[in-house]
Amino acid sequence: MQRINIQNILSKKKAGEKIVMLTAYDYPLAAILDESGIDMILVGDSLANVVLGLEFTKQVGMTEMLHHAKAANRAVKRAMLVGDMPYNSYKTPTLAVKNAKRFVKEAGCNAVKIEWFPGCEKIARAIVKARIPVIGHVGLTPQRAQELGGLKVQGKDAQAAAEIIQQAKLLEQAGCFSLVLECIPSEIAAMITQNSKIPTIGIGAGADCDGQVLVTYDLLGLFTRFHPKFVKQYTDLNAEIKKAVGQFFSEVKTGKFPDAEHSFSMHPDELGKIKGL
Ligand code: KIV
Repeated sequence: MQRINIQNILSKKKAGEKIVMLTAYDYPLAAILDESGIDMILVGDSLANVVLGLEFTKQVGMTEMLHHAKAANRAVKRAMLVGDMPYNSYKTPTLAVKNAKRFVKEAGCNAVKIEWFPGCEKIARAIVKARIPVIGHVGLTPQRAQELGGLKVQGKDAQAAAEIIQQAKLLEQAGCFSLVLECIPSEIAAMITQNSKIPTIGIGAGADCDGQVLVTYDLLGLFTRFHPKFVKQYTDLNAEIKKAVGQFFSEVKTGKFPDAEHSFSMHPDELGKIKGL
């Protein structure tokens, strides 16, 4: 089975078909997402927060990202697999190309994502030149959250919004095939979406983007340390898991588990022999 490619993604924008992206960091979740038919699976550096219990996404590096991307890759058959380039892994064009190649060659990713910083259009251009598809990420870029005043909505005044629009334009011109727009006013996301040929994928950027992405652990109710306003929680796996674990706990304590159905037994003849030894 062939994975979804850039042409498929670009043609969804032309056809007005929304693009669906979610994050995964391991084999079982990537398999579930892939089987659910979503278009893109992002091995996001949100790994730092939702899986590794770290405070900032910039606390993960290539070692962690490749380790988790490899696991996700083993499960993915049809979705496009995107590796999120961690902080400091794309400081210069040379370093960026080297690390983007690692995502493709070692972890089987089909594309990489980079977060905006001044001058990063040169980085995007170098990776694209190395024939690796790139997604740009503008608006709230969590790797630089501290410089942006925290995990806050970006582009709320005209000047700041104009800067984000310009960043999106530069990344499109650099050859990115898609843009993640995070935590910006819906009106600005709509303007970027209308004015670019490449699809926009929003997270906290309103309904007019060409697609949407969420951190899967947020959507499933697995990550509870903080809850951004833009997250819609579709189920409460935290409560479901606690219910199942509670049941296991009481069945072990009372001796109800394991029962005969979940145990192995020996042929009486063999048992007799060993007892006679
Ligand atoms: O790391 C991540 O999960 C992301 C998404 C929120 C877009 O960058």
